[in-house]
Amino acid sequence: MKITCENIILDTDPRIRMKSEPVSLPLSDEDKELLSAMLEYVRNSQDEEIAQQDNLQPAVGIAAIQVGVPKQLIAVVIPEEDKVYEAALANPKIISESVQNSYLDNGEGCLSVHDVHEGHVFRHARIKVRGYDLIQDKKVVISAEGFFAIALQHEIDHLSGKLFYDHIDENDPWKEDEEAEVI
Ligand code: NI
Repeated sequence: MKITCENIILDTDPRIRMKSEPVSLPLSDEDKELLSAMLEYVRNSQDEEIAQQDNLQPAVGIAAIQVGVPKQLIAVVIPEEDKVYEAALANPKIISESVQNSYLDNGEGCLSVHDVHEGHVFRHARIKVRGYDLIQDKKVVISAEGFFAIALQHEIDHLSGKLFYDHIDENDPWKEDEEAEVI
């Protein structure tokens, strides 16, 4: 199975607002294949050559509902200077979160959103996420901060049908949070 831009649904498709269901563990072959394909998409989309060749829109994460499958599966790949932070999670759940917020200074984007929605999206600066990670092939608790934490929260939002622009303050989209970490 291979995911391309043609498989990705947009926010004009009502399925994007669906609630995703937990998957059973151990993962079925079908779920494993889907989650692997999602991880491959994100990895490949960050490789300029492959992305161009396969016409992949660059992404740091994807949720299964974005290919029309309402299952609690997400993949995130964040290349940082020191290492690549990545996870391919089934049934991810945030089990703790910092009071401090963080946000991307330029706002967020999404594979399923083509219209422009500008503004700050406040997230928790640090989170702990529990789930089954296909990359490590075990149940994990991931402690994340920075861009990795933001991307995980963005993808976990998709599991309840939430999109990044739902968080933007319509009346003051670029408002700031003095306490927040700006990324
Ligand atoms: Ni998204």
